[in-house]
Amino acid sequence: MQNELSGSDSSVKKRRDICKKLARYLSWCGFNTKVFNVGNRRRVVDNVTKSSETGTSHDAKFFDHSNAEAASLREKVAAETLNESIEWLKQGGKVAIHDMKLQGPDYINMDPEEALKDFRNRISNYEKVYQTISDEEESRNLRHGESLYNMVGRLGGDSSLSANGKKYAEALYEFIENREMIDGEKEFDRKQNDSTWSLNSKVEALRVFTSTLKRTLETAEKFEEDPEKYEISHIKFLNEIYAGAFEDMTYEEIKLKHPDEYLARQEQKLQYRYPGAGGESYLDVIERLRPVIIELERMRVDALVVTHQVVMRTLLAYFTGIPLCDVPKVKVPLHTLYCLQPKPYGADLHRYAYDPKTGKIEYQGEGYEFV
Ligand code: F6P
Repeated sequence: MQNELSGSDSSVKKRRDICKKLARYLSWCGFNTKVFNVGNRRRVVDNVTKSSETGTSHDAKFFDHSNAEAASLREKVAAETLNESIEWLKQGGKVAIHDMKLQGPDYINMDPEEALKDFRNRISNYEKVYQTISDEEESRNLRHGESLYNMVGRLGGDSSLSANGKKYAEALYEFIENREMIDGEKEFDRKQNDSTWSLNSKVEALRVFTSTLKRTLETAEKFEEDPEKYEISHIKFLNEIYAGAFEDMTYEEIKLKHPDEYLARQEQKLQYRYPGAGGESYLDVIERLRPVIIELERMRVDALVVTHQVVMRTLLAYFTGIPLCDVPKVKVPLHTLYCLQPKPYGADLHRYAYDPKTGKIEYQGEGYEFV
């Protein structure tokens, strides 16, 4: 349960952000999760009762301790919301998040003025130790450049980039180096000139994550040259789905030699686990990506993630709230960059794709597509 005493916009926003993030994470972990917001219900009630005698529009008077009628309406609405969430749990929901504003137990017998003063003091103490959540951090996610295996349609393996893949890697580096903000200023210059961007006026390096497979290492190779600007980590969790006994095969070969397995995957792509030692399913990949998601969530600097098809689908699904069942259908073509800007209720997503005619990465559009 989330609670607060004052109705300040920023604390309400933070509380809602936390509820939404929690709901997104739990849903993505496979728990049917819903946020039950007392404020929303209260506003509905308010619309119905506004013209009544009590006139309970929700200004400070509504939260005044001496306003007995308003207090009883507040309690009623909170109880109804709680009942609604319990009902929903009984009908199969797994996690109900009860998001409400309440008079905290610490303040029950305190003079409201004093309580507010105390609460504000607490907030300012919290602010000294917690970093403010900012909407500015962006994460850019992409698959590696075309590999030799991609050219012939082979699954998995650890092949190098093709000639096209190498060109893309160069264009990617240029794109990130020269990426301009909306007003035309270079992102890196902006940060260097603006001390509010980071603590101690120091420009934080862009965090670059790759898998441990050659095709992602080679895609991000150029970034290794400037450790001041780019801090690179190679993470095994970001490796592609492991196709077990079917690694290095093409889909046609699998269809021909193992038609039942081929069909089983077509029918249940999310759950299907490749046979053979270490063979994985989408659900396995989702599970192993949890620590990466947590790391990306808690980061306060921009990130660039260079990874593979299944991992990309999973990351995009998490950050944009695509339901688990649709993860295998998300379209993530090669040589396409997905820029995510976190927002309280999800994330803005912009696509950029490599144009072999210009040799540059160009803006493509908003949002994701399905295959
Ligand atoms: O074909 C490239 C690839 O990354 C393979 O290594 C991997 O098995 C496959 O994509 C995953 O995509 P899908 O789940 O659609 O088969």
